[in-house]
Amino acid sequence: MVDAKPSPGFKILAREDFSDVTYSLVIHHPLMAKAARPGQFVIVMTHESGERVPLTIADFDRAKGTVTLVVQAVGKSTKEMQQICQVGTSIHGMVGPMGVPSPLTGKKKVVCVGGGLGVAPIYPQARGFKENGAYVIGILGFRTKKLIFWEDKFRACCDELILCTDDGSAGMKGFVSDGIKLAIAGHRNIDEVVAIGPPIMMKACADTTRPHAIKTIVSLNPIMVDGTGMCGGCRVKIGDEIKFACVDGPDFDGHKVDFGDLMMRLKRYAEEEKAALERWSENCRMMQRAPPALKGGEAAESGLPLPDPFDGVLGG
Ligand SMILES: Cc1cc2nc3c(=O)[nH]c(=O)nc-3n(C[C@H](O)[C@H](O)[C@H](O)COP(=O)(O)OP(=O)(O)OC[C@H]3O[C@@H](n4cnc5c(N)ncnc54)[C@H](O)[C@@H]3O)c2cc1C
Ligand code: FES
Repeated sequence: MVDAKPSPGFKILAREDFSDVTYSLVIHHPLMAKAARPGQFVIVMTHESGERVPLTIADFDRAKGTVTLVVQAVGKSTKEMQQICQVGTSIHGMVGPMGVPSPLTGKKKVVCVGGGLGVAPIYPQARGFKENGAYVIGILGFRTKKLIFWEDKFRACCDELILCTDDGSAGMKGFVSDGIKLAIAGHRNIDEVVAIGPPIMMKACADTTRPHAIKTIVSLNPIMVDGTGMCGGCRVKIGDEIKFACVDGPDFDGHKVDFGDLMMRLKRYAEEEKAALERWSENCRMMQRAPPALKGGEAAESGLPLPDPFDGVLGG
């Protein structure tokens, strides 16, 4: 276990583990909860030398003053968060809300599609559409039954829910794009489809709706650094235009997104990300191999220089 220093930041009030790699954190941050709008995201620093991690606001409760994040542990920082973000500890920093809120008014019938982890960020939009009087068709896709989460939350705000699993262990067997085909077959007057998930999934959704000329919005997740439009890291190609997802998005017209460019740019630092994860994992293993009397606080008190798990892995 990482010896995380306590931080004054924002307290974690609840946590739920949906699978070995996916977990939700309910964080006390009344100002963020007050300002948050569906479609927006925050940039989180778990500890004072932590990497800046963009995460979508998956839920917010203004009365309780909380925001909920759902995280998938894919690399060094999100795995580190999985270890140290426990109920009662605090997140060191949280900047936001960032990004352009999703427009939710003026639609009569919408389809909200979430694939895998994308189920979490689509939730505030589904609820927001419902609150604005739209007929909401939810389509949720998971690889298999045991990975399903938040089905009850969607049932509460959707007029129809199509659950899809790749292996057919729950709901219909197939991808979310098959769910969209089903929705289109049953409804002629869909105003908009909103899809959030891996780029390949969002591309498949846009390809499915294109022949029917149904407006399709996708939420892009390029690598972000500052989140203020200054660094250019989150550059995406939308038709003939170059946009910065952090300030111009993250929602864009799915029929215009250059998904090939997005997927290529997401892989750009794969070697560095792999090396950072290996260094961090090795440091964690060294901490675990240390004699029990020298672990954590006792080791620090003894004055012996144990390896700092964050040493050499800053910046991902
Ligand atoms: C607007 C936005 C919203 C997001 N919302 C969520 C969310 O709600 N839940 C969630 O689990 N993940 C979300 N992500 C992705 C999340 O930020 C990355 O998974 C995380 O930064 C990976 O960091 P890592 O050190 O664990 O992994 P690394 O090993 O560093 O990277 C693994 C992969 O994550 C992506 N990634 C790495 N660094 C960044 C970065 N700074 N910005 C964006 N992507 C990065 C790359 O594709 C990379 O290949 C979001 C990303 C964006 C841009
Ligand atoms: S993250 Fe730097 S410009 Fe968007």
